[in-house]
Amino acid sequence: MNSKIKKIIRKKNKSKIVSLTAYSKNISKILDKYCDIILVGDSMANVLYDQKNTHKISLEDLIKHTLSVQKGIKKSLLVVDMPKGSYSDTFTALKNARIIMKKTNCHAVKLENFRNNYKIINLLVKKKIPVMGHIGFTPQFKRSFRIEGQSKKEIEKLLKQAKSIEKAGAFSIVLECLTSDAARLITQSIKIPTIGIGSSSYCDGQILVTDDMLGLSGFYPKFVKKYANLNRIIEKAAKKYSREVKIKKFPTKKNFLNGTN
Ligand code: KIV
Repeated sequence: MNSKIKKIIRKKNKSKIVSLTAYSKNISKILDKYCDIILVGDSMANVLYDQKNTHKISLEDLIKHTLSVQKGIKKSLLVVDMPKGSYSDTFTALKNARIIMKKTNCHAVKLENFRNNYKIINLLVKKKIPVMGHIGFTPQFKRSFRIEGQSKKEIEKLLKQAKSIEKAGAFSIVLECLTSDAARLITQSIKIPTIGIGSSSYCDGQILVTDDMLGLSGFYPKFVKKYANLNRIIEKAAKKYSREVKIKKFPTKKNFLNGTN
């Protein structure tokens, strides 16, 4: 097993795992200093391409953005989402996971849970492709948003899924939008780390979509904390630039290139 993955697993019950998404080098270079895991998420469909769901993002899109993200990473574990349709059966999953791993040099792939696709996880792991699972709200397969784990029966179902993913060999599981009771029970019941998004502080780590927490995406549900308001900062800078170009305040002689430094 990759030493970076071993390090992530060892963090369980010791220190929290910090994770964020990235789709480009300029962002991943900054995040790399503070994150254990950087995910090239298919959330880029909503965030970058303004699509209403993640269903149309392609393998090529994921690979292209990962190649950029990879250039900013020195120490974090780089995980890439497998897009919808790219792991519909074991053969397709293995072929596409190998393409992602080979073309991007990432450390692992992430698969959303669907119709008990544990066999696929198990095959990829056997073929030395590390896998991160994903349960709860899985946008590739669920039409409408719902908090999961609201009844005892639902919690048991989620726990069963988490245990099956662990048994299949995944090194970690994303818990998306689960009740705190479900997140706590799952986290206590499995040996691999859980990474929560909208799933309380009981998880072993947390992940957010970077553009949301930076105040860039315009998507701020209750579980997102806005750590910055980049929309405002960029808007202010663009406005100032626009004004200065128009009134000929920029460029000044200081910015002229006349063959000297
Ligand atoms: O695509 C993504 O960004 C994700 C995270 C929300 C976990 O899957």
